[in-house]
Amino acid sequence: MSVRNIYPVSLSIIRDEHEHLSSVIQGMLYFVRQIAHGGPCPDLKVFRAMLYYIKEYPEKNHHPKEDLYLFAKIKERTHQLDGELDALSEQHSKGELMVRQLSNALLDYEFCGQPAFALFNAQVEQYAQFYFAHMRVEEERIIPIARQILNDQDWQEVDAAFLENRKILDDAGERYKYEQLFSLIVNITPAPIGVANPL
Ligand SMILES: [Fe+2]
Ligand SMILES: [Fe+2]
Repeated sequence: MSVRNIYPVSLSIIRDEHEHLSSVIQGMLYFVRQIAHGGPCPDLKVFRAMLYYIKEYPEKNHHPKEDLYLFAKIKERTHQLDGELDALSEQHSKGELMVRQLSNALLDYEFCGQPAFALFNAQVEQYAQFYFAHMRVEEERIIPIARQILNDQDWQEVDAAFLENRKILDDAGERYKYEQLFSLIVNITPAPIGVANPL
């Protein structure tokens, strides 16, 4: 079976969401590495906003849509990827737990200071490694096969599910809620990661 010529909109949304999430994780990594090397620490609100983004967006929208639509459709068409898809779904649950642990480690760092930094630092590094590997498998292994085996009807259903993500608007009903949150992170994060004044 050949790859369709039209690139499914759901896959563009998945890639955009991965890019945003990667930038947020890279931002956390940048600052913990800076602190680990004796550099200044940004306002902890920056870390809180980043963790809030991960908790609100990928955990509540991106992962469930992958499990319920993309992975489910692939499993209907082939059992070739069952083991890998199950592993990715387990990672979605594990990621949620890791983010909760990260939030706790950040609270410890905020209220106990330097002695609590090592654990927070280690958990950010661990989460980054874990999540980058997860996205790589989805993009390099799963999506290329999905493009070969899902038919037009399948993609219509997967596309519709992911397009729903774009309908979650902010309180003013004007802007896609998570883009607004992402912009807020960029605005409060010091340069060179964000656009706020450098530390
Ligand atoms: Fe995923
Ligand atoms: Fe993903």
